[in-house]
Amino acid sequence: MGSDDSSGATPQARVVLRVDSVSACEAQSDRQGWSHLERARYTEITDPGRKAQYRVGHWRVRGLASVVLGGLPGVWRYERPPGECARLIDDERGLACFVSISHVDDYIVCAVSDDVVGTDIEMIRDERELSALAKRCLAPREAEVIAQLSGPAQATAFYRGWAIREALGKAAGTGLVPGTARRIRTLPAAPAEATLRLWAGADRVLVLAHAAGAQIEAFTGMDKAPENFRWYLGEPRQESDPEDV
Ligand SMILES: CC(C)(COP(=O)(O)OP(=O)(O)OC[C@H]1O[C@@H](n2cnc3c(N)ncnc32)[C@H](O)[C@@H]1OP(=O)(O)O)[C@@H](O)C(=O)NCCC(=O)NCCS
Repeated sequence: MGSDDSSGATPQARVVLRVDSVSACEAQSDRQGWSHLERARYTEITDPGRKAQYRVGHWRVRGLASVVLGGLPGVWRYERPPGECARLIDDERGLACFVSISHVDDYIVCAVSDDVVGTDIEMIRDERELSALAKRCLAPREAEVIAQLSGPAQATAFYRGWAIREALGKAAGTGLVPGTARRIRTLPAAPAEATLRLWAGADRVLVLAHAAGAQIEAFTGMDKAPENFRWYLGEPRQESDPEDV
């Protein structure tokens, strides 16, 4: 997403994020502009629910890119080079933007930006071995807190930390890498300095990882305003670390 700013100042990134219902969008979702790889991946997926998620996500990101950068949704070529953030490219106009997709149940979230972006949506469910998973994938202090909790409080604390790391992993293009994920520390931040937005609902948590200072247009369908954080990489066991999320 380009800018005409010639002042030398770092242009402000723009992010558009939208949460949709997969079932409500499926009938209108088309496959215009899909690459051979996307078509092959779609054919490979056998589960109807997962197929619908894939279809709606790859349709919706093109629609968002066109809203932001103009042109028809079918012009966008989707790419996710290994170890890099996913992107959409319009070869004709020489335009590109970064994208991220996440889905759970009937929810799908798509984000488009001119800087790297990652998003994750999770249902808060008390159904996995959360304490062990926290020890493996969250910061040591978060894992300690989660080990002391149980039931919905434990699940909420876990999925906040987990969704942050999934979103950051998608922005990086690596997915969640446990060693790196354990080093991620988060701090509350003023909106202008934030690089993470977290929307907490009663049953779900939604995270957006974005460039600092980004202008965010979010259509989440959630009541509460987002919480703002910034993140940094700490050492795995640094007792002096400030409070984690
Ligand atoms: C791959 C991974 C990012 C998917 O996340 P998820 O929460 O399972 O699923 P989500 O619905 O949120 O996200 C899926 C979307 O992420 C995107 N995605 C997948 N891998 C990605 C990557 N490496 N980088 C950026 N985006 C990626 C895709 O768009 C995918 O949707 P699509 O296939 O419909 O296009 C996640 O499973 C992961 O990080 N895996 C790494 C290994 C792991 O599981 N580690 C945990 C051990 S503690």
